[in-house]
Amino acid sequence: MLWIPGPTEVRPEILAECARPAIGHRSAAMTQLIERLDPHLAYAFGLAEGSSASLGVHSCSASGMMEASLRGVGKRVLSIVNGAFSKRFAQMVEAVGSESTTIDVTWGAGVDPALLRKVLEEQGPFDAVTLVSNETSTGVRTPIDSVSEVLKDFPNTLLLVDLVSYIAGAPVDFDANGIDFGFAGIQKAFACPPGLAVFCASERYMASAREQKQRGWYLDPVLLIEGHKARKTPATPTTPLYYALAQQLEDITAGVTLPEAEQHLRGKEAWQARFDKHTRMLERTDAWAKSRGLELYPDAQFTSPTVSCIAAGSIDVAEFCAGLKERGFEISNGYGDLKGKTFRIGHMGDHTEEGLESLIHAMDEVLGAPL
Ligand SMILES: Cc1ncc(COP(=O)(O)O)c(C=O)c1O
Repeated sequence: MLWIPGPTEVRPEILAECARPAIGHRSAAMTQLIERLDPHLAYAFGLAEGSSASLGVHSCSASGMMEASLRGVGKRVLSIVNGAFSKRFAQMVEAVGSESTTIDVTWGAGVDPALLRKVLEEQGPFDAVTLVSNETSTGVRTPIDSVSEVLKDFPNTLLLVDLVSYIAGAPVDFDANGIDFGFAGIQKAFACPPGLAVFCASERYMASAREQKQRGWYLDPVLLIEGHKARKTPATPTTPLYYALAQQLEDITAGVTLPEAEQHLRGKEAWQARFDKHTRMLERTDAWAKSRGLELYPDAQFTSPTVSCIAAGSIDVAEFCAGLKERGFEISNGYGDLKGKTFRIGHMGDHTEEGLESLIHAMDEVLGAPL
């Protein structure tokens, strides 16, 4: 069983959706398939009533949409870097020929809003700020509003947010949080197979994007949003994954993926119950770590509801992971420089609290009695 921080386990019913007969992507069947997505993506992105934001779906991984997001903004981009994926976002700024400035935050923490303000004032103006809301490499969740509150005083700076291991695991308030472009793959808290990305763009992001001359083609955000609106993908889509996503979104909204006692919930309440489950799983994982004399790696105010990164202390992480694998459970070693120093558990998607208890039992078995 996959307890890594994504890809995560996919229910057999969702995998079965990928085995449907092929359809032409210019057919009425494809139009209907695309139309199944938006009402539920609106819950995932937390769109306000009457929101003017545009939803989209594209056949690529999340990194593709990370790059696409940068193609719709001007050349001066400020990146908040507090882990491996936010570093990738900053590197992409240069890769698309823009000018990258970074705020390097100690791994394990989120950005200090006062520092963000200072950099914006002293080194601005910036066309955009990049943020990874949930650093999968460190288990750090940066509250999006801590950044967007500061940006209210810099109205010409757009906010681009990586929601990869966060969305569908915790509430995103796209409009209230002043996000201009948010994106994710579907293999994390959506609990679908990898290969499709979802995204949402504000009106002012679209206006900015239309002004940019060289947006490429396959990752042109304007082409993608317009294609999605017209229910016509610019290129051949990964149709089997559209089926999987549509079914999973409908199931989440219908309460199907919730614990039995909550399966009567529908719509917004069902999504909220999914988020609450993730919070309880974080709390249980934290309590287990403490029971073993271990600590979560991030500062307490930044712990992620979907990915727990635990400082390993004297545990041999490679051996620990191997012992778990023998028992049928896969968790992840630390990422990059944190390899051997931390281990990560992805308690997201359709994982259940009972399942987490089984993992905890196996972890206790591999570690033996607490020291
Ligand atoms: C926070 C974050 N951003 C971006 C990515 C890149 O996603 P992908 O490998 O789907 O392109 C990942 C992958 O794990 C991630 O965790």
